Amino acid sequence: MADLSLGLYGLGTMGSALALNIAEKGFDLHVANRSPDRVDEFLEEAAGLAERLTGHHGLVAMIDAMNAPRAVILMVPAGAAVDATIEDIRHHLVPGDMIIDAGNADFNETRRRSADLSAEGLTFVGMGVSGGEDGARHGPSIMVGGPQTAWDQLQPMLEAISAKHDGAPCAAWLGPDGAGHFVKTVHNGIEYAEMQMIAEIFGLERSAGTSHADIGAMFSRWNAGPLASYLIEITSIVLQARDHLTGEPAVEAIVDKAGQKGTGRWTVIEALKLGQSASVIEAAVAGRGWSSDPVRAVASGVLPRRAEAVDLPETTLEAALIAGRIIDHAQGFSILSAASEVFGWDLDLARTAEIWRAGCIIRSAQLDAFASAFRAGPPEGHLALSPAMVALLDQNVPGLRAVVASAVTAGQPVPALSGALAWYDSMTKARGTAAVIHGQRDYFGRHGFDRVDGGADRHGPWWRDV
Ligand code: 6PG
Repeated sequence: MADLSLGLYGLGTMGSALALNIAEKGFDLHVANRSPDRVDEFLEEAAGLAERLTGHHGLVAMIDAMNAPRAVILMVPAGAAVDATIEDIRHHLVPGDMIIDAGNADFNETRRRSADLSAEGLTFVGMGVSGGEDGARHGPSIMVGGPQTAWDQLQPMLEAISAKHDGAPCAAWLGPDGAGHFVKTVHNGIEYAEMQMIAEIFGLERSAGTSHADIGAMFSRWNAGPLASYLIEITSIVLQARDHLTGEPAVEAIVDKAGQKGTGRWTVIEALKLGQSASVIEAAVAGRGWSSDPVRAVASGVLPRRAEAVDLPETTLEAALIAGRIIDHAQGFSILSAASEVFGWDLDLARTAEIWRAGCIIRSAQLDAFASAFRAGPPEGHLALSPAMVALLDQNVPGLRAVVASAVTAGQPVPALSGALAWYDSMTKARGTAAVIHGQRDYFGRHGFDRVDGGADRHGPWWRDV
Protein backbone atom coordinates (compact mmCIF):
# COMPACT_ATOMS: atom_id res chain seq x y z
CA MET A 1 0.00 0.00 0.00
CA ALA A 2 2.81 2.35 0.95
CA ASP A 3 4.10 2.58 -2.63
CA LEU A 4 0.69 2.58 -4.33
CA SER A 5 -0.48 5.95 -5.58
CA LEU A 6 -4.27 6.28 -5.32
CA GLY A 7 -6.54 8.26 -7.62
CA LEU A 8 -10.31 8.57 -7.97
CA TYR A 9 -12.18 9.74 -11.06
CA GLY A 10 -15.84 10.78 -10.85
CA LEU A 11 -16.89 13.13 -8.08
CA GLY A 12 -20.63 12.51 -8.20
CA THR A 13 -22.52 11.68 -5.03
CA MET A 14 -20.93 8.26 -4.50
CA GLY A 15 -17.47 9.23 -5.74
CA SER A 16 -17.29 12.29 -3.50
CA ALA A 17 -18.42 10.30 -0.47
CA LEU A 18 -15.89 7.55 -1.14
CA ALA A 19 -13.08 10.07 -1.67
CA LEU A 20 -13.81 11.76 1.66
CA ASN A 21 -13.92 8.37 3.39
CA ILE A 22 -10.50 7.44 1.93
CA ALA A 23 -8.98 10.78 2.95
CA GLU A 24 -10.49 10.58 6.42
CA LYS A 25 -8.85 7.18 6.98
CA GLY A 26 -5.47 8.80 6.35
CA PHE A 27 -4.76 7.88 2.73
CA ASP A 28 -3.53 10.43 0.19
CA LEU A 29 -5.75 10.58 -2.86
CA HIS A 30 -5.64 12.27 -6.25
CA VAL A 31 -9.06 13.27 -7.58
CA ALA A 32 -10.45 14.37 -10.95
CA ASN A 33 -13.85 14.78 -12.54
CA ARG A 34 -15.32 15.15 -16.04
CA SER A 35 -16.33 18.72 -15.35
CA PRO A 36 -13.30 20.37 -13.73
CA ASP A 37 -15.33 22.93 -11.75
CA ARG A 38 -16.65 20.13 -9.58
CA VAL A 39 -13.07 19.37 -8.45
CA ASP A 40 -12.64 22.84 -6.95
CA GLU A 41 -16.09 22.72 -5.39
CA PHE A 42 -15.36 19.28 -3.91
CA LEU A 43 -12.03 20.36 -2.42
CA GLU A 44 -13.82 23.22 -0.72
CA GLU A 45 -16.47 20.87 0.67
CA ALA A 46 -13.70 18.56 1.90
CA ALA A 47 -12.58 21.26 4.39
CA GLY A 48 -9.91 19.78 6.69
CA LEU A 49 -9.71 16.56 4.67
CA ALA A 50 -8.49 18.53 1.64
CA GLU A 51 -4.91 18.25 2.92
CA ARG A 52 -4.96 14.56 1.93
CA LEU A 53 -6.54 15.33 -1.45
CA THR A 54 -4.86 16.55 -4.64
CA GLY A 55 -7.27 17.84 -7.27
CA HIS A 56 -6.62 17.76 -11.03
CA HIS A 57 -8.51 19.44 -13.84
CA GLY A 58 -8.37 16.41 -16.10
CA LEU A 59 -8.10 12.64 -15.88
CA VAL A 60 -4.89 12.35 -17.86
CA ALA A 61 -3.37 15.19 -15.84
CA MET A 62 -4.19 13.20 -12.72
CA ILE A 63 -2.60 10.03 -14.11
CA ASP A 64 0.54 11.92 -15.14
CA ALA A 65 0.85 13.43 -11.67
CA MET A 66 0.63 10.04 -9.94
CA ASN A 67 3.69 7.83 -9.44
CA ALA A 68 3.56 4.21 -10.60
CA PRO A 69 2.29 1.84 -9.41
CA ARG A 70 -1.05 3.57 -9.62
CA ALA A 71 -4.53 2.49 -8.58
CA VAL A 72 -7.23 4.52 -10.33
CA ILE A 73 -10.72 4.15 -8.91
CA LEU A 74 -13.48 4.82 -11.46
CA MET A 75 -16.80 6.10 -10.13
CA VAL A 76 -18.61 6.56 -13.45
CA PRO A 77 -21.92 5.19 -14.74
CA ALA A 78 -21.94 1.54 -15.79
CA GLY A 79 -21.48 0.58 -19.41
CA ALA A 80 -20.10 2.77 -22.19
CA ALA A 81 -18.74 5.44 -19.81
CA VAL A 82 -16.47 2.88 -18.16
CA ASP A 83 -15.10 1.72 -21.52
CA ALA A 84 -14.63 5.29 -22.70
CA THR A 85 -12.74 6.19 -19.52
CA ILE A 86 -10.51 3.14 -19.81
CA GLU A 87 -9.72 4.09 -23.43
CA ASP A 88 -8.78 7.59 -22.28
CA ILE A 89 -6.22 6.36 -19.77
CA ARG A 90 -4.91 2.95 -20.76
CA HIS A 91 -2.04 4.35 -22.85
CA HIS A 92 -0.97 6.63 -20.02
CA LEU A 93 -0.66 3.72 -17.60
CA VAL A 94 2.28 1.30 -17.28
CA PRO A 95 2.42 -2.42 -16.43
CA GLY A 96 1.70 -2.88 -12.74
CA ASP A 97 -0.90 -0.10 -12.67
CA MET A 98 -4.45 -0.91 -11.69
CA ILE A 99 -7.90 0.32 -12.72
CA ILE A 100 -10.69 -0.26 -10.19
CA ASP A 101 -14.29 -0.06 -11.38
CA ALA A 102 -16.18 0.71 -8.17
CA GLY A 103 -19.60 1.17 -9.75
CA ASN A 104 -22.22 -1.47 -10.41
CA ALA A 105 -21.26 -3.39 -13.54
CA ASP A 106 -22.42 -6.29 -15.64
CA PHE A 107 -19.86 -8.92 -14.59
CA ASN A 108 -19.55 -10.08 -18.22
CA GLU A 109 -18.14 -6.66 -19.04
CA THR A 110 -15.82 -6.86 -16.06
CA ARG A 111 -14.49 -10.20 -17.29
CA ARG A 112 -13.93 -8.76 -20.77
CA ARG A 113 -12.14 -5.69 -19.42
CA SER A 114 -9.98 -7.80 -17.11
CA ALA A 115 -8.81 -10.03 -19.96
CA ASP A 116 -8.28 -7.08 -22.28
CA LEU A 117 -6.20 -5.04 -19.85
CA SER A 118 -4.19 -7.94 -18.48
CA ALA A 119 -2.79 -8.46 -22.01
CA GLU A 120 -1.07 -5.09 -21.51
CA GLY A 121 0.16 -5.89 -18.00
CA LEU A 122 -2.56 -3.73 -16.45
CA THR A 123 -4.71 -5.00 -13.61
CA PHE A 124 -8.47 -4.55 -13.62
CA VAL A 125 -10.44 -4.84 -10.41
CA GLY A 126 -14.26 -5.07 -10.41
CA MET A 127 -15.31 -3.85 -7.01
CA GLY A 128 -18.88 -3.89 -5.74
CA VAL A 129 -19.56 -1.14 -3.22
CA SER A 130 -22.85 -1.16 -1.33
CA GLY A 131 -24.37 1.19 1.16
CA GLY A 132 -25.53 4.21 -0.79
CA GLU A 133 -24.08 7.66 -0.14
CA ASP A 134 -23.93 7.24 3.62
CA GLY A 135 -22.19 3.89 3.28
CA ALA A 136 -19.64 5.23 0.82
CA ARG A 137 -18.88 8.12 3.19
CA HIS A 138 -18.77 6.24 6.49
CA GLY A 139 -18.28 2.56 5.69
CA PRO A 140 -19.64 0.50 2.81
CA SER A 141 -19.59 -3.23 2.25
CA ILE A 142 -16.91 -3.93 -0.37
CA MET A 143 -16.89 -6.95 -2.70
CA VAL A 144 -13.62 -7.27 -4.58
CA GLY A 145 -12.99 -9.27 -7.75
CA GLY A 146 -9.66 -9.40 -9.57
CA PRO A 147 -6.18 -10.83 -9.10
CA GLN A 148 -5.44 -11.70 -5.48
CA THR A 149 -2.23 -9.68 -5.75
CA ALA A 150 -4.37 -6.59 -6.31
CA TRP A 151 -6.28 -7.35 -3.13
CA ASP A 152 -2.98 -7.69 -1.25
CA GLN A 153 -2.07 -4.17 -2.36
CA LEU A 154 -5.49 -2.66 -1.65
CA GLN A 155 -6.46 -4.53 1.50
CA PRO A 156 -5.21 -2.00 4.09
CA MET A 157 -7.09 0.87 2.44
CA LEU A 158 -10.27 -1.08 1.68
CA GLU A 159 -10.48 -2.57 5.15
CA ALA A 160 -9.94 0.86 6.67
CA ILE A 161 -12.76 2.50 4.70
CA SER A 162 -15.22 -0.40 4.94
CA ALA A 163 -18.03 -0.90 7.42
CA LYS A 164 -17.20 -2.98 10.50
CA HIS A 165 -19.30 -5.72 12.05
CA ASP A 166 -18.18 -6.27 15.66
CA GLY A 167 -14.86 -4.78 14.58
CA ALA A 168 -14.43 -7.10 11.55
CA PRO A 169 -14.08 -5.26 8.21
CA CYS A 170 -16.88 -5.82 5.70
CA ALA A 171 -14.49 -5.97 2.75
CA ALA A 172 -13.17 -9.10 1.11
CA TRP A 173 -11.52 -10.49 -1.96
CA LEU A 174 -14.06 -12.90 -3.38
CA GLY A 175 -12.37 -14.24 -6.50
CA PRO A 176 -10.84 -13.33 -9.85
CA ASP A 177 -12.21 -11.17 -12.70
CA GLY A 178 -16.00 -10.68 -12.41
CA ALA A 179 -16.50 -12.33 -8.99
CA GLY A 180 -16.86 -9.07 -7.04
CA HIS A 181 -19.29 -7.49 -9.48
CA PHE A 182 -21.28 -10.71 -9.74
CA VAL A 183 -21.66 -10.89 -5.97
CA LYS A 184 -22.71 -7.23 -5.91
CA THR A 185 -25.26 -7.90 -8.64
CA VAL A 186 -26.81 -10.75 -6.66
CA HIS A 187 -26.73 -8.56 -3.55
CA ASN A 188 -28.88 -6.11 -5.49
CA GLY A 189 -31.18 -8.91 -6.66
CA ILE A 190 -31.78 -9.82 -3.02
CA GLU A 191 -32.24 -6.11 -2.32
CA TYR A 192 -35.01 -5.97 -4.96
CA ALA A 193 -36.68 -9.06 -3.45
CA GLU A 194 -36.58 -7.67 0.08
CA MET A 195 -37.96 -4.32 -1.03
CA GLN A 196 -40.78 -5.92 -3.00
CA MET A 197 -41.86 -8.22 -0.15
CA ILE A 198 -41.87 -5.30 2.29
CA ALA A 199 -43.97 -3.29 -0.18
CA GLU A 200 -46.39 -6.21 -0.54
CA ILE A 201 -46.89 -6.38 3.24
CA PHE A 202 -47.49 -2.62 3.23
CA GLY A 203 -50.13 -3.12 0.51
CA LEU A 204 -51.99 -5.71 2.58
CA GLU A 205 -52.03 -3.55 5.69
CA ARG A 206 -53.19 -0.57 3.65
CA SER A 207 -56.02 -2.70 2.24
CA ALA A 208 -57.16 -3.29 5.83
CA GLY A 209 -57.42 0.47 6.35
CA THR A 210 -54.37 0.82 8.58
CA SER A 211 -52.84 4.29 8.35
CA HIS A 212 -49.39 4.78 6.84
CA ALA A 213 -48.12 6.01 10.19
CA ASP A 214 -49.37 2.87 11.93
CA ILE A 215 -47.88 0.62 9.28
CA GLY A 216 -44.62 2.52 9.68
CA ALA A 217 -44.80 1.99 13.43
CA MET A 218 -45.33 -1.74 12.85
CA PHE A 219 -42.14 -1.89 10.77
CA SER A 220 -40.40 0.01 13.50
CA ARG A 221 -41.46 -2.63 16.05
CA TRP A 222 -40.29 -5.38 13.72
CA ASN A 223 -36.94 -3.65 13.48
CA ALA A 224 -36.40 -4.47 17.14
CA GLY A 225 -36.96 -8.21 16.51
CA PRO A 226 -35.75 -10.97 14.19
CA LEU A 227 -36.46 -8.85 11.10
CA ALA A 228 -34.06 -6.10 12.22
CA SER A 229 -32.51 -4.72 9.06
CA TYR A 230 -31.68 -1.53 7.26
CA LEU A 231 -34.54 -1.90 4.74
CA ILE A 232 -37.16 -2.48 7.47
CA GLU A 233 -35.78 0.51 9.36
CA ILE A 234 -35.90 2.90 6.42
CA THR A 235 -39.35 1.67 5.40
CA SER A 236 -40.66 2.60 8.84
CA ILE A 237 -39.23 6.11 8.39
CA VAL A 238 -40.49 6.46 4.80
CA LEU A 239 -44.03 5.41 5.75
CA GLN A 240 -44.27 7.70 8.75
CA ALA A 241 -43.09 10.77 6.83
CA ARG A 242 -45.58 13.38 5.60
CA ASP A 243 -45.34 15.26 2.34
CA HIS A 244 -44.34 18.84 3.08
CA LEU A 245 -46.71 20.22 0.44
CA THR A 246 -49.90 18.23 0.99
CA GLY A 247 -49.46 17.08 4.58
CA GLU A 248 -50.49 13.60 3.37
CA PRO A 249 -48.30 10.50 3.78
CA ALA A 250 -45.17 11.17 1.75
CA VAL A 251 -45.36 7.92 -0.24
CA GLU A 252 -48.78 8.92 -1.59
CA ALA A 253 -47.11 11.91 -3.27
CA ILE A 254 -44.83 9.58 -5.25
CA VAL A 255 -45.73 8.30 -8.74
CA ASP A 256 -46.43 4.58 -8.42
CA LYS A 257 -43.83 3.39 -10.94
CA ALA A 258 -40.68 1.67 -9.71
CA GLY A 259 -37.55 2.47 -11.71
CA GLN A 260 -34.47 0.35 -11.98
CA LYS A 261 -30.90 0.68 -13.16
CA GLY A 262 -30.64 -2.97 -14.13
CA THR A 263 -28.89 -4.98 -11.44
CA GLY A 264 -32.03 -6.92 -10.48
CA ARG A 265 -32.61 -7.76 -14.12
CA TRP A 266 -28.96 -8.82 -14.52
CA THR A 267 -29.37 -11.15 -11.54
CA VAL A 268 -32.37 -12.85 -13.12
CA ILE A 269 -30.73 -13.11 -16.55
CA GLU A 270 -27.54 -14.63 -15.15
CA ALA A 271 -29.48 -16.93 -12.83
CA LEU A 272 -31.49 -18.32 -15.72
CA LYS A 273 -28.34 -18.79 -17.78
CA LEU A 274 -26.92 -20.81 -14.89
CA GLY A 275 -30.04 -22.98 -14.75
CA GLN A 276 -31.17 -21.32 -11.55
CA SER A 277 -34.55 -19.78 -10.89
CA ALA A 278 -34.72 -17.22 -8.14
CA SER A 279 -38.49 -16.91 -7.93
CA VAL A 280 -38.53 -14.10 -5.38
CA ILE A 281 -36.04 -11.96 -7.27
CA GLU A 282 -37.79 -12.69 -10.57
CA ALA A 283 -41.09 -11.58 -9.05
CA ALA A 284 -39.50 -8.42 -7.69
CA VAL A 285 -38.10 -7.48 -11.11
CA ALA A 286 -41.45 -8.31 -12.69
CA GLY A 287 -43.27 -6.25 -10.07
CA ARG A 288 -41.17 -3.19 -10.93
CA GLY A 289 -41.82 -3.78 -14.62
CA TRP A 290 -45.58 -4.15 -14.14
CA SER A 291 -45.67 -1.00 -12.03
CA SER A 292 -44.38 1.08 -14.94
CA ASP A 293 -46.24 -0.74 -17.72
CA PRO A 294 -48.59 1.77 -19.44
CA VAL A 295 -51.09 -1.07 -19.84
CA ARG A 296 -51.78 -0.91 -16.09
CA ALA A 297 -53.44 2.50 -16.29
CA VAL A 298 -55.88 1.19 -18.89
CA ALA A 299 -56.31 -2.30 -17.43
CA SER A 300 -57.24 -0.92 -14.02
CA GLY A 301 -60.31 0.64 -15.60
CA VAL A 302 -61.21 -2.25 -17.89
CA LEU A 303 -60.49 -5.61 -16.26
CA PRO A 304 -62.97 -6.87 -13.67
CA ARG A 305 -61.43 -6.22 -10.34
CA ARG A 306 -61.34 -7.86 -6.95
CA ALA A 307 -59.68 -5.97 -4.11
CA GLU A 308 -60.86 -6.92 -0.66
CA ALA A 309 -59.23 -6.16 2.64
CA VAL A 310 -56.65 -8.50 4.13
CA ASP A 311 -56.67 -8.16 7.86
CA LEU A 312 -54.14 -10.49 9.45
CA PRO A 313 -52.41 -10.39 12.82
CA GLU A 314 -49.09 -8.55 12.88
CA THR A 315 -47.26 -11.73 13.94
CA THR A 316 -48.52 -13.55 10.84
CA LEU A 317 -47.27 -10.79 8.54
CA GLU A 318 -43.94 -10.74 10.38
CA ALA A 319 -43.57 -14.50 9.99
CA ALA A 320 -44.24 -14.20 6.25
CA LEU A 321 -41.39 -11.74 5.88
CA ILE A 322 -39.03 -13.86 7.98
CA ALA A 323 -39.71 -16.90 5.78
CA GLY A 324 -39.51 -14.77 2.62
CA ARG A 325 -36.16 -13.36 3.68
CA ILE A 326 -34.67 -16.79 4.28
CA ILE A 327 -35.92 -17.99 0.90
CA ASP A 328 -34.77 -14.98 -1.12
CA HIS A 329 -31.29 -15.18 0.43
CA ALA A 330 -31.18 -18.95 -0.11
CA GLN A 331 -32.02 -18.37 -3.78
CA GLY A 332 -29.42 -15.60 -4.09
CA PHE A 333 -26.69 -17.71 -2.51
CA SER A 334 -27.67 -20.59 -4.76
CA ILE A 335 -27.02 -18.39 -7.81
CA LEU A 336 -23.62 -17.48 -6.34
CA SER A 337 -22.80 -21.10 -5.79
CA ALA A 338 -23.75 -22.03 -9.39
CA ALA A 339 -21.70 -19.13 -10.80
CA SER A 340 -18.73 -20.04 -8.65
CA GLU A 341 -18.74 -23.53 -10.09
CA VAL A 342 -19.15 -22.44 -13.72
CA PHE A 343 -16.57 -19.64 -13.58
CA GLY A 344 -14.15 -21.41 -11.22
CA TRP A 345 -14.25 -18.65 -8.60
CA ASP A 346 -14.31 -20.76 -5.46
CA LEU A 347 -16.59 -18.20 -3.81
CA ASP A 348 -16.68 -18.33 -0.03
CA LEU A 349 -20.41 -17.99 0.74
CA ALA A 350 -19.86 -17.67 4.49
CA ARG A 351 -17.40 -14.82 3.92
CA THR A 352 -19.86 -13.20 1.51
CA ALA A 353 -22.60 -13.34 4.15
CA GLU A 354 -20.16 -11.93 6.70
CA ILE A 355 -19.32 -8.86 4.63
CA TRP A 356 -23.05 -8.22 4.10
CA ARG A 357 -23.64 -7.99 7.87
CA ALA A 358 -22.87 -4.27 7.91
CA GLY A 359 -22.56 -1.37 5.50
CA CYS A 360 -24.66 -2.74 2.64
CA ILE A 361 -28.32 -2.17 1.79
CA ILE A 362 -29.41 -5.73 2.69
CA ARG A 363 -27.66 -5.76 6.07
CA SER A 364 -29.82 -7.53 8.61
CA ALA A 365 -29.64 -9.42 11.87
CA GLN A 366 -30.29 -12.62 9.93
CA LEU A 367 -27.10 -12.32 7.87
CA ASP A 368 -25.08 -13.35 10.90
CA ALA A 369 -27.18 -16.50 11.15
CA PHE A 370 -26.78 -17.07 7.40
CA ALA A 371 -22.98 -16.77 7.75
CA SER A 372 -22.97 -19.29 10.63
CA ALA A 373 -25.15 -21.64 8.59
CA PHE A 374 -22.63 -21.57 5.73
CA ARG A 375 -19.69 -21.98 8.13
CA ALA A 376 -21.36 -25.16 9.41
CA GLY A 377 -21.81 -26.44 5.82
CA PRO A 378 -25.51 -26.95 5.05
CA PRO A 379 -26.70 -30.05 3.11
CA GLU A 380 -26.19 -29.54 -0.65
CA GLY A 381 -24.52 -26.26 0.29
CA HIS A 382 -28.04 -24.79 0.36
CA LEU A 383 -28.86 -22.20 2.98
CA ALA A 384 -32.49 -23.31 3.36
CA LEU A 385 -31.36 -26.81 4.33
CA SER A 386 -29.19 -25.80 7.27
CA PRO A 387 -30.74 -27.11 10.51
CA ALA A 388 -31.14 -23.57 11.88
CA MET A 389 -33.01 -22.44 8.76
CA VAL A 390 -35.14 -25.58 8.63
CA ALA A 391 -36.30 -24.76 12.17
CA LEU A 392 -37.03 -21.13 11.24
CA LEU A 393 -38.91 -22.13 8.10
CA ASP A 394 -40.93 -24.64 10.10
CA GLN A 395 -41.92 -21.80 12.43
CA ASN A 396 -42.57 -19.12 9.82
CA VAL A 397 -43.79 -20.73 6.59
CA PRO A 398 -47.31 -21.16 8.06
CA GLY A 399 -47.42 -17.35 8.33
CA LEU A 400 -46.20 -16.99 4.75
CA ARG A 401 -48.87 -19.45 3.62
CA ALA A 402 -51.63 -17.61 5.50
CA VAL A 403 -50.57 -14.30 4.01
CA VAL A 404 -50.36 -15.58 0.44
CA ALA A 405 -53.66 -17.49 0.73
CA SER A 406 -55.53 -14.48 2.15
CA ALA A 407 -53.99 -12.09 -0.36
CA VAL A 408 -54.81 -14.30 -3.34
CA THR A 409 -58.40 -14.77 -2.17
CA ALA A 410 -58.79 -11.04 -1.65
CA GLY A 411 -57.30 -10.12 -5.03
CA GLN A 412 -54.27 -8.38 -3.53
CA PRO A 413 -51.05 -8.95 -5.51
CA VAL A 414 -48.19 -10.56 -3.62
CA PRO A 415 -45.93 -11.84 -6.43
CA ALA A 416 -42.71 -12.02 -4.41
CA LEU A 417 -44.25 -13.63 -1.32
CA SER A 418 -46.09 -16.07 -3.62
CA GLY A 419 -42.84 -16.79 -5.44
CA ALA A 420 -41.19 -17.65 -2.14
CA LEU A 421 -44.00 -19.99 -1.14
CA ALA A 422 -44.14 -21.63 -4.58
CA TRP A 423 -40.43 -22.42 -4.34
CA TYR A 424 -40.83 -23.79 -0.82
CA ASP A 425 -43.79 -25.98 -1.73
CA SER A 426 -42.02 -27.28 -4.83
CA MET A 427 -38.89 -28.15 -2.88
CA THR A 428 -40.82 -30.04 -0.22
CA LYS A 429 -42.31 -32.53 -2.70
CA ALA A 430 -39.88 -35.24 -3.75
CA ARG A 431 -42.28 -36.09 -6.56
CA GLY A 432 -44.11 -33.22 -8.22
CA THR A 433 -45.53 -32.74 -11.70
CA ALA A 434 -42.44 -32.74 -13.94
CA ALA A 435 -43.24 -36.24 -15.22
CA VAL A 436 -46.27 -34.82 -17.00
CA ILE A 437 -44.02 -32.27 -18.77
CA HIS A 438 -41.81 -35.14 -19.89
CA GLY A 439 -44.83 -37.08 -21.10
CA GLN A 440 -45.92 -34.08 -23.17
CA ARG A 441 -42.42 -33.55 -24.57
CA ASP A 442 -42.15 -37.16 -25.51
CA TYR A 443 -45.62 -37.13 -27.07
CA PHE A 444 -45.05 -34.16 -29.34
CA GLY A 445 -41.34 -34.49 -30.02
CA ARG A 446 -40.18 -37.99 -29.04
CA HIS A 447 -37.76 -36.31 -26.60
CA GLY A 448 -37.55 -39.37 -24.35
CA PHE A 449 -37.39 -39.61 -20.56
CA ASP A 450 -35.73 -41.54 -17.75
CA ARG A 451 -37.86 -44.28 -16.16
CA VAL A 452 -38.36 -44.49 -12.40
CA ASP A 453 -37.35 -48.18 -12.52
CA GLY A 454 -34.17 -47.36 -14.45
CA GLY A 455 -35.40 -49.39 -17.45
CA ALA A 456 -34.05 -48.75 -20.95
CA ASP A 457 -37.37 -47.84 -22.58
CA ARG A 458 -37.25 -44.05 -23.02
CA HIS A 459 -40.61 -43.51 -24.76
CA GLY A 460 -44.22 -43.65 -23.64
CA PRO A 461 -46.98 -46.01 -24.81
CA TRP A 462 -48.33 -43.19 -27.03
CA TRP A 463 -45.60 -44.11 -29.52
CA ARG A 464 -46.25 -47.87 -29.50
CA ASP A 465 -48.70 -48.03 -32.33
CA VAL A 466 -46.89 -45.68 -34.70
C1 6PG B 1 -26.27 -0.40 -3.00
C2 6PG B 1 -27.40 -0.12 -3.95
C3 6PG B 1 -26.93 0.72 -5.08
C4 6PG B 1 -28.05 1.40 -5.85
C5 6PG B 1 -28.86 0.46 -6.64
C6 6PG B 1 -30.18 1.03 -7.07
O1 6PG B 1 -25.97 -1.57 -2.82
O2 6PG B 1 -25.72 0.56 -2.47
O3 6PG B 1 -27.89 -1.33 -4.46
O4 6PG B 1 -26.08 -0.07 -5.87
O5 6PG B 1 -28.85 2.11 -4.99
O6 6PG B 1 -28.10 0.14 -7.76
O7 6PG B 1 -30.62 0.18 -8.02
P1 6PG B 1 -31.93 0.37 -8.81
O8 6PG B 1 -31.93 1.76 -9.37
O9 6PG B 1 -31.85 -0.66 -9.86
O10 6PG B 1 -33.03 0.17 -7.83
